[in-house]
Amino acid sequence: MTTWHEDGSTLVLPPKAAVTASAWRHHHILDLDDFTADEIELVLHIADSMKEVLARPVKKVPALRGRTVMTLFYENSTRTRLSFELAAKSLSADVSNLTASASSITKGESLIDTLLTLESLGADVVIMRHPQSGAPNLAAQHIKGSVINAGDGWHAHPSQALLDMYTMKAHKGAVKGLKVTIIGDTKHSRVSRSNIWGLTIMGAEVTVCSPPTLLPVGLREPGDNFPRVRIEPDINKAIAGADVVMVLRLQLERMQTGLLPSMREYIQIYQVNEERLKLAKPDALVMHPGPMNEGLEISSGVAHGSQSVVNEQVTNGVAVRMALLYLLAGGKKA
Ligand code: CP
Repeated sequence: MTTWHEDGSTLVLPPKAAVTASAWRHHHILDLDDFTADEIELVLHIADSMKEVLARPVKKVPALRGRTVMTLFYENSTRTRLSFELAAKSLSADVSNLTASASSITKGESLIDTLLTLESLGADVVIMRHPQSGAPNLAAQHIKGSVINAGDGWHAHPSQALLDMYTMKAHKGAVKGLKVTIIGDTKHSRVSRSNIWGLTIMGAEVTVCSPPTLLPVGLREPGDNFPRVRIEPDINKAIAGADVVMVLRLQLERMQTGLLPSMREYIQIYQVNEERLKLAKPDALVMHPGPMNEGLEISSGVAHGSQSVVNEQVTNGVAVRMALLYLLAGGKKA
């Protein structure tokens, strides 16, 4: 067991990870496609230690003291932005937040110039959300500090997938072997893409259920560049026997017209409701990355029912994001 002391605060890192924090090789977190199962396990193990820190009366350790973390959000967020901020503060980092709509970006400043400005102000880690897929990858090529993708376009949301897997593991003991059914708008969902990478790397069986117009080409015709998943258009068959039912938000703001006949029809065919949930295992978890369109992709009864772990996902997001920040910028490695 590795223990790190400073100023009376102790961070106890787990002993059983196959990859250790000192062997961590990622400078950026852009997606999970280049992660190994051992690396994902390490993040989840370290998040356990962070949960222990967050349960203390003083929820703080000095692991990132002297480091500067900046959030750069070109799209709105509640959960991701607040939890990264809380995570960085719990690790004693200096934290600054920049919202594109209230910055010189509105005067036409480019992404690269904005990033160079943050770097000039001392950013060691930039946590970035952007509507364009690939923007964080571009950012990573231009600054020396670490970039964490907090959601880019339809592409990836790796910290969400990691907190989802952490929540599954907390309830089920392991991710390997779980039957995970993802239901909804997979076309526009960066959450589902990162989850498909992470879950398949970890050995879960993934089923996807989406309207044909909301199913991305990469899933319909999987190539070498995307993991193979089961596509099941019938929601009842997709949910049957599932350990986890992950519901996705209909991303109406990203949709062109004509992708769905009507919301009424979507609700009839694809809403996860109490009746349909009975087809899953009795102890199945209901997950949703949020924000939810209650009454649309998920009924209020399921969203707030006994099987829902939606609020737990949010809580776990802080510990998982602490683990990521620790691995990227913790300084003293285990
Ligand atoms: N799940 C998620 O990314 O939520 P926010 O948009 O509120 O950050």
